[in-house]
Amino acid sequence: MNLAMPLPRIENRLRKNPAKERDQLLQGLLQPQARINPKYFYDDCGCEIFTRICELDEYYPTRTEEAVFQAYASDIAQRLPEHAQWIDLGCGDCAKSRRWMEELAPRRLIGVDIAAEFLKLSLADVAAVHPRVECVGVVSDFTQQLDIAGLLAERPHCPPIFFYPGSSIGNFARPDALQLLQAIRSHCGADGRLLIGVDLVKARTVLEAAYDDAQGVTAEFNLNVLNVVNRELDGNFRLEDFRHQAVFDSRHSRIEMRLVARNDLVVKLGNNRRAFQQGEHILTEYSHKYTPEGFSALLEEAGFNRPECWTDDRGWFGVFLAGPA
Ligand code: TRP
Repeated sequence: MNLAMPLPRIENRLRKNPAKERDQLLQGLLQPQARINPKYFYDDCGCEIFTRICELDEYYPTRTEEAVFQAYASDIAQRLPEHAQWIDLGCGDCAKSRRWMEELAPRRLIGVDIAAEFLKLSLADVAAVHPRVECVGVVSDFTQQLDIAGLLAERPHCPPIFFYPGSSIGNFARPDALQLLQAIRSHCGADGRLLIGVDLVKARTVLEAAYDDAQGVTAEFNLNVLNVVNRELDGNFRLEDFRHQAVFDSRHSRIEMRLVARNDLVVKLGNNRRAFQQGEHILTEYSHKYTPEGFSALLEEAGFNRPECWTDDRGWFGVFLAGPA
């Protein structure tokens, strides 16, 4: 990092309400079908394990998406507006945005992420390498509220390009995915775009292996959430009492990640108790898989035009580019 550079501007839009969040977490666990919100995966340990998931042989999405971007970057860039504001939703270390800073040279990079410290460092890094790109950070949970109208309005002649890679859209149930896409659409104006990566339907064996690898890294990731819950709720989950399970539900076209109780047990959560019978599970995350037609239809329902779609040779992963209808 070049310390002579001014640090990127960071706006904090996170409205934290710890008591309410803890209560929601507890209520989810007390439901007949126990649930844990996947946002609890990402403590420091979870982030580190997630990085390892993305490098697994079985976990094809990251690699396949990268191959599609690599193969079609200039085709895609040709269809994007110039002098854009590039908005990376869930930017993390901004690694996936960097190539577009070269390919497209947008006016601005707006990195949106929930992890404030990490966001600062990542953007400072990008700013040092691309001094002509104005880097701005927004700390927010954009899945709750995409609060960037004011920021975009500062550059009225710079059309927004929303970048949402990694098939994160698949982690939402369909109505919530639609809502997020509509929110993005509402910020697009006349010439904004959405560039989004989506994992596609394929053989069950391939899908299930991607979420249940031979080394057990995804299992470790899934089980780690119980450590987070123990800290948040003063709980006494024992990781060895649960096993990781990933099943493809073809009816809903989604992977379901579960934690299955190995025997009958009772967990203490602060002053509360939750009993689990052997074989009963906690639902931790969905990962929906789309067909190209199905995802195009969802984009159109959200008010976008018929998108263009690029895929790899096997048709495993789709990159969609849509603009306002
Ligand atoms: N959204 C990606 C997917 O569903 C990455 C991801 C999120 C993931 N949570 C995960 C991958 C849990 C494996 C396990 O594939």
